[in-house]
Amino acid sequence: MTGRRILVTSALPYANGPIHLGHLVEYIQTDIWVRFQKMRGHECHYVCADDTHGTPIMLRAEKEGITPEALIARVHAEHSRDFAGFHVAFDNYYTTHSDETRLYAEDIYAKLKAVGLVEVRSIEQYYDPLKSLFLPDRFIKGECPKCGAKDQYGDSCENCGAAYAPTDLRNPYSAVSGATPVLKSSEHYFFRLSDARCQDFLRRWTREEQRLQPEAANKMQEWLGAEGENKLTDWDISRDAPYFGFEIPDAPGKFFYVWLDAPIGYMGSFRNLCGKRGLDFDDYWGKDSQAELYHFIGKDILYFHALFWPAELAHAGYRTPTKVFAHGFLTVDGQKMSKSRGTFITADSYLQQDLNPEWLRYYFAAKLNSSMEDIDLNLDDFVARVNSDLVGKYINIASRCAGFLVKFFDGKLAFAATKPLLDGAVHSGQTLSEYYEARNFSQALREIMAIADRINGEIATAAPWTLAKDETRRAALHDICSRALHGFYVLSILLRPVLPALTSRVARELFGMERDFAWNDLAALPTRVNAYQHLMQRIEARQIDALVNANRESLAPAADAHSPQRHAQHQQTQTAAPTPSPQPARGEGESGGAIAPMIGIEDFAKIDLRIARIVDAGHVEGAEKLIRLSLDIGEAKPRQVFAGIKSAYDPATLIGRLTVMVANLAPRKMKFGLSDGMVLAASDPEGKSSGLFLLSPDSGAQPGMRVK
Ligand code: MSP
Ligand code: ZN
Repeated sequence: MTGRRILVTSALPYANGPIHLGHLVEYIQTDIWVRFQKMRGHECHYVCADDTHGTPIMLRAEKEGITPEALIARVHAEHSRDFAGFHVAFDNYYTTHSDETRLYAEDIYAKLKAVGLVEVRSIEQYYDPLKSLFLPDRFIKGECPKCGAKDQYGDSCENCGAAYAPTDLRNPYSAVSGATPVLKSSEHYFFRLSDARCQDFLRRWTREEQRLQPEAANKMQEWLGAEGENKLTDWDISRDAPYFGFEIPDAPGKFFYVWLDAPIGYMGSFRNLCGKRGLDFDDYWGKDSQAELYHFIGKDILYFHALFWPAELAHAGYRTPTKVFAHGFLTVDGQKMSKSRGTFITADSYLQQDLNPEWLRYYFAAKLNSSMEDIDLNLDDFVARVNSDLVGKYINIASRCAGFLVKFFDGKLAFAATKPLLDGAVHSGQTLSEYYEARNFSQALREIMAIADRINGEIATAAPWTLAKDETRRAALHDICSRALHGFYVLSILLRPVLPALTSRVARELFGMERDFAWNDLAALPTRVNAYQHLMQRIEARQIDALVNANRESLAPAADAHSPQRHAQHQQTQTAAPTPSPQPARGEGESGGAIAPMIGIEDFAKIDLRIARIVDAGHVEGAEKLIRLSLDIGEAKPRQVFAGIKSAYDPATLIGRLTVMVANLAPRKMKFGLSDGMVLAASDPEGKSSGLFLLSPDSGAQPGMRVK
């Protein structure tokens, strides 16, 4: 092995939200690549951190009534847990809110300033006069200047796709307080990206050594413009207090913009690792470093990593990345991940449903290549692919053949011809290492499954289960099972970057090794196996249904996610016919019974729900389904409401009990009188069972209390 020294990063996830399957595309992709490099015997360090600064994190903490420090500490623990759950093995998972990151942020800033690449200018920005806060674009809303759509963000319209400045919005308001923002000027610090030195450097850097993928290099050309053209604009790197971040030295009340210190967090995390492992920071980040440095990122943050970051590093006296690897975005069933569809799936919910993390690692790997194309998680395909490839092709080899070796041959392997087997393994290793190195994981797995197909074909032809019945054919049985298990050994080595936990068990439990596989193990033949232990389950489609239901955001009580038969449903009028289920099983045609369109909390807040005491209840003459209720919600006079619950309740049993009503529903004139509100009940969505269940508060609730 050549002794390469490699430093690898993944983008730093924001510390204000959970890790979801979209994020995992990146961390799994990087982790596979890093594990491959380590298996090859290279010195490789994988660092990451939480991206902890900025206005959204500050406001989020304020909303939760905790300090930003407490928020980021909690999220750090959650993120670390989620990554570990998916076997993403960072050498260091740190935080940008650290002394190390501050040190390099101040250092880079000072050096850029010293060479004249920092400039102070006064700019006008929207300011929230109620919160005394300059508003980031995403916290200003208003009507789209182009299409007039309401409640659009300050940078772009989700309705027509137009991009604009927040000052272009019509009737702008602060998303934080609702106040009308005012324009206010203040001094900002700019990194002078428009300076000729930056332009020249970036042109050279982009052309050199294929640092960027072809699509990314094209983007860069677009951003840089033609030779002689000056398209780059200066970058605003400061924000005014109040801000959660690092205060700029000698500029009281001014803070580094979160995107200034975020990539510097790569250095901070690595510096922290150097302290723990006795590594030399400058070996990796010094101007003349011979080490390799790779950033794995999503295509949405290319601008920051391919323009600002190398330009900053180069002019502050540090090395620049060897390459930047951008990947595309995850879609689920061909669409953007969506909370209402239940496809915005968190890492934690996946693990909570007892789904095997290596299923997802395998599936993502099977879809990933070196391009920036989006990748789709098709849920049906996910089930099919994992079951047919991983379980049906790979695991199957060991589960069919290991038992015979243990039963008849004391677990010993015997090979008639060793050279072709070894040559074959080494050859496969060579091919596969090129695919892994080039991040062509999909091609790597296709090749691996082709090997598995060949082995399974040989097993089928030899039919060891038939040979085993015939004592005179022991040699043939021994040969096919040995070759099958050698094949399984090779496949396990080749799959280790993708399936670290499973192949660790294979190495240790099945082949009796005291360590995990190394790439070099391809050059040896296994000599014995232990009894086969169950290695991996198939996925059941219903597990995926449960996962989607658990992630579906709706007004239904949380318990509903696990028992889709029942859901809260309102009963107001003479027709008590239950509406279709808002949570159909996947594939059952979501059109009719899908969840209602998403609403914001402000929509929900419009519904005034109150605890009501049923002070009287009686039959309604001529009405088949209705009961007349008198409801006390602490008003001068009880309300009359007609509820379609006669099939389930005898009015006499209702008198005196508490329930929940919608108190601000427009009164409805019915044949029998006015219905002034409605009570809440649960029912079978299919209408198959006659069950109807009025809601009741826990004891202690009083008539008139607000429910929210
Ligand atoms: N904090 C910044 C990165 C700073 S790096 C110095 C950020 N954070 S993020 O949490 O929004 O995203 C982290 C990474 O996950 C990014 O590379 C982003 O592209 C990636 N992904 C987030 N959602 C994704 C998908 N739906 N699909 C694929 N990758 C996605 O950006
Ligand atoms: Zn618009």
